Amino acid sequence: MVSEWKAGSEVKLYVLVISAVAALGGFLFGFDTAVISGVNPFIREFFGLNEIMLGWANSSLILGAVLGTQVAGKPGDLLGRKRTLMLTALLFFVSAMGSAMAMSFTEFVIYRLIGGVAVGAASVISPIYIAEIAPAEHRGRLVALNQLTIVTGIFVSFFTNYRLEGIGSDNWRWMLGIEGIPALLFLGLLVFVPESPRWLVVKGRWQRAQEVMQKWMGEGEALQEIRRIREAHSAAEKATFLEVLRPRYRRLAAIGIILAVLQQFTGINVIMYYAPLIFERAGFGTGSALLQTIAVGAVNLVFTILAMRLVDRVGRRPLLLVGAGAMSLSLFTLSMVFFAEMLEGYWVLVFILGFIASFAVSFGPVVWVLISEIYPNNVRGIAVSLATLGLWSANFIVTGTFPSMLASWDGGLAFLFYAVINLGSLIFVWFFVPETKGLSLEELETSLAS
Ligand code: BGC
Repeated sequence: MVSEWKAGSEVKLYVLVISAVAALGGFLFGFDTAVISGVNPFIREFFGLNEIMLGWANSSLILGAVLGTQVAGKPGDLLGRKRTLMLTALLFFVSAMGSAMAMSFTEFVIYRLIGGVAVGAASVISPIYIAEIAPAEHRGRLVALNQLTIVTGIFVSFFTNYRLEGIGSDNWRWMLGIEGIPALLFLGLLVFVPESPRWLVVKGRWQRAQEVMQKWMGEGEALQEIRRIREAHSAAEKATFLEVLRPRYRRLAAIGIILAVLQQFTGINVIMYYAPLIFERAGFGTGSALLQTIAVGAVNLVFTILAMRLVDRVGRRPLLLVGAGAMSLSLFTLSMVFFAEMLEGYWVLVFILGFIASFAVSFGPVVWVLISEIYPNNVRGIAVSLATLGLWSANFIVTGTFPSMLASWDGGLAFLFYAVINLGSLIFVWFFVPETKGLSLEELETSLAS
């Protein structure tokens, strides 16, 4: 049975506002991953970096994120979602200030690693928190809000980089340091959000869970919901890391991890991080790179909003299937454009934008939605951290190998490779990914575990 909203739009607004606060973790995740693109040329000069060191300046954040996904699950389950998010906000702040004021390259890398830990942790805990407070019928849209803030963070960092570029030799310090403002805002606003009621129930704090739930549900309904969560919880054993690998969870764990890895193997960050390089390959002057970057950011934003409107109506599976098909087709045609050397004109831009739109309406938000909701309450923290570990490790591999792929294979073969992977994703989704639309987390627990 689907839970009812307590009457009144004020209540809806309350859930929306606390979800938006948690989703600020996504904003910082997006900002932190993308800001480096504008910082690169200046730190290269300031610290005197060679190619390998510059690569390390970029990948240190992703490596930190891999680590962050692993350290976040435990405190997320032990201290609660809210306190873990507060710790994450603090790390974002420390990283922004530290990297902005770094006097040596080692110092710079250490603070970027710390930022990475925050990115990884936020990518685990923000979606979990939102999924746990959201009523079933709006959960998809509310978790997708986190993707909207990721995409907004990316867009804002492109924009602040552009505005700050001309302010003098300390420009890169300001590009990085400015993130301290949203980090502090995140920390300050988190003080006002309640702890996740599902986490409170699992910890035996039913009274508090009831108080929290009654903010958006009637008393009777909150009691019923708590009973359902308690039943679902006591039917399951205590979770440890190995528990997730037990037969009853193994299948779901595998689906979550594979989906997370496939999200990165769509090739999305190849475009996000290397768009200027690709456009250059296609013969565009660097002058138009900014315009194209803005087009990429804008299409990403618009189609993420479309996904938010669709995810609870048409469901997760249709979006993933259509998206994978459309991504495969866009990349296939893009590879043909490179093979046929039809690089003049705007074909490259058109197919890249087609690819971004297909990702933004499907794998971008929907993968985060699914991995936050398919696991039972008691293993959710650990299972999500495993799936996001897969996601960040895949990101590390894809973005690390792309420059040499482009150099030795050229665009045609490189994009054909990702087109084929997206076709594989379509087949995987068709056979293995369950539909979760409209069911409460406890109902999913019963239906997916069997
Ligand atoms: C992915 C990121 C990606 C972003 C782009 C997210 O869902 O996890 O790796 O950069 O979407 O919009």
